[in-house]
Amino acid sequence: MAIIIDGKKVSAEVKEQVRIETEELIKKGIKPGLAVIIVGDDPASRVYVNNKKKACEKVGFLSKEFALPATTTQEELLALVNELNEDKEINGILCQLPLPKGLDEKAVIEAISPLKDVDAFHASNVGKIMIGDYDFLPCTPAGVMEMLHSYNIPVEGKECVVIGRSNIVGKPMAMLLLHENGTVTITHSRTKNLKEVTKRADILVAAIGKPKFVTADMVKEGAVVIDVGMDRDENGKLCGDVDFENVKEKCSAITPVPGGVGPMTIAVLMKNTLKACKIQNNL
Ligand code: GUN
Repeated sequence: MAIIIDGKKVSAEVKEQVRIETEELIKKGIKPGLAVIIVGDDPASRVYVNNKKKACEKVGFLSKEFALPATTTQEELLALVNELNEDKEINGILCQLPLPKGLDEKAVIEAISPLKDVDAFHASNVGKIMIGDYDFLPCTPAGVMEMLHSYNIPVEGKECVVIGRSNIVGKPMAMLLLHENGTVTITHSRTKNLKEVTKRADILVAAIGKPKFVTADMVKEGAVVIDVGMDRDENGKLCGDVDFENVKEKCSAITPVPGGVGPMTIAVLMKNTLKACKIQNNL
């Protein structure tokens, strides 16, 4: 039976550290501020944004939400980003993705000041991560690394397989595992003999977006399995990209959904916002 990696617990520890540091900053008259932009009414995005707002309140940040209708134009969205780039109360800007059809995500990401880019999605921050000289790490992959550290799971020399090659998770995840000397393979929808590749993994990260895609026969005995998915099963119940019930019998450690990677994403967002605030205040 595998260790169930408790993302809620690790996330609470990270947020508590952020809360303590924020308390000290507030004594100096500095309050970190995060702006969250949400466009349209995607229910999953709504839940994520609400959780981000709640976390801000918990750690003592100023939080400003900008909920825009799906009819918002590219110009209107860029104007808001530019306004927030100049807003002294705001240290971090996050535009929840995906954006409704017709809006150009790439242009919005590029419009966010790299200094306030707490998602680490801006090309200049992505480039800095690539060369290992960065201020911010992308929230979900960094959250996964924090969980591995917290559970003393070493990466060095391990076969690491990432399923999924998105800019938000798959690609940066591979980079962070590489930074810690893992031997990393990225797989995707065109990968041939996927099962043969995933069965090699000592650390398997699933970031595909398909419910229960990773089945027990794809997992090596004793592997560590990280589930980045946030999907709905055939009954509409929240589940991940991994067939948790069967895979947990075979692996040595596994993250549940919910309660695994999700809370960690938010904890790292809080860390990044605090760091942005410190950098902007020359601390
Ligand atoms: N959509 C899914 N995950 C994320 C994330 O980490 N940041 C943003 N901005 N949008 C997302």
